[in-house]
Amino acid sequence: MKTDPVLKPPKPVIGQYPVVEQTWLNEAYFKIRILADDIAEKASPGQFVNVRPGQTYDPLLRRPFSIYLADPEEGWIELVIKQVGRGTELLSRLRVGDQIDMLGPLGRGFDIETVETAILAGGGVGLAPLVFLARELSLFPKEIYFFQGFQSKADVCCLEDLAALNIAPVVTTDDGSFGRKGFVTEAVKDFIKDRNVQSGTELFACGPEPMLKEICNIVDFYHLTGQFSLETRMACGIGACMGCAVPAFDGEDYRLVCRDGPVFRNREVLL
Ligand SMILES: Cc1cc2nc3c(=O)[nH]c(=O)nc-3n(C[C@H](O)[C@H](O)[C@H](O)COP(=O)(O)OP(=O)(O)OC[C@H]3O[C@@H](n4cnc5c(N)ncnc54)[C@H](O)[C@@H]3O)c2cc1C
Ligand code: FES
Repeated sequence: MKTDPVLKPPKPVIGQYPVVEQTWLNEAYFKIRILADDIAEKASPGQFVNVRPGQTYDPLLRRPFSIYLADPEEGWIELVIKQVGRGTELLSRLRVGDQIDMLGPLGRGFDIETVETAILAGGGVGLAPLVFLARELSLFPKEIYFFQGFQSKADVCCLEDLAALNIAPVVTTDDGSFGRKGFVTEAVKDFIKDRNVQSGTELFACGPEPMLKEICNIVDFYHLTGQFSLETRMACGIGACMGCAVPAFDGEDYRLVCRDGPVFRNREVLL
C-alpha cells in the first residue's frame, strides 16, 4: 500500500495521566479533564489521543478521541466523549484521581494558516475537535461561523465553552426540539446562499459520514475549500496496522486516517 509523504507531526508520548475533572454534560456525553502537560504542550486542533479504556486488556484495543481543548500553561487536555459501547462505558466510570493510559497527540490536525473566513460545522460529538479549532482561530483576526447539529435537545451540550470564546453557534436538532429543525448541513447551505459566501472561505467539519459527504458537495458546489476530520474505527493509531485505511479520492490508492489524517482536505479521500 502506498501513501503520500506528509508533514511529520510532533512525536507522540505515552503515559499514565491523572483525571482531574469528570462531568456528565447530558445523559450520553461526558467531559474529562486530564493532567498531561507533555501532550497539552504539543497538541493542535484536530489531533487525537489513543486511550486504553480500562486497566486490563479487555477491551484489547485503545479508543481514539479528539482533543476537545488543551491548556499548555496549566498542563491539561479535555476530551468530550459520547458513550456508545463498552470502551466508552469504561471510560465514563473514571473518577477524579484515577489514572488513564494515553498515547498522543496523534495524527494530522487542521491547517489554519491561510484561513480568512472559517465556517465550522459539527454533527453530534463531531463538535469535539471543532471547539479547540474555534479557540485557535479566535486568537487571530479571522471571521468564524459555527454550526452545530444534534439529534435532539437531550444531546445539546458545550455551548457555554463556545460562549466563552464569544461564539454563538447556530444549533440545529433533527427533531426541532432545540434551535432550528433539520440537519446542520441545511443551515450551512442557507448561510452560504444568503450571505453569498465567496471562494476563499474554508469549511471545517466533523461528524457522521453522510454529513461529511454533504459538506463535500457544498464545498464543491460553492467553490469553497474544505477540511474535515474522519472518525473511522482504529486499532494502533500510529500507522502500523493498516486498520484505518480509506480509499484516496482517485480510488486507486489509500490513506491512513490515523497517520495521514484524521483531517483531510476536500477531494483527498473518497467518502
Ligand atoms: C480520530 C477520531 C476521533 C474521535 N473523537 C471522538 C471524540 O472526541 N468523542 C467521541 O465520543 N468519539 C470520538 N471518536 C469515536 C470513538 O473513538 C468511538 O466512539 C469509540 O472508539 C467507541 O468505543 P466503544 O468501545 O465505546 O464502542 P464499540 O463497542 O467499539 O462500538 C459501539 C458502537 O459505536 C460505534 N463506533 C465505534 N467506533 C466508532 C467510531 N470510530 N466512529 C463512530 N462510531 C463508532 C460502533 O459502530 C458501534 O455501534 C473518534 C474517533 C476517531 C477515529
Ligand atoms: S489505526 Fe493502525 S494504521 Fe491506522
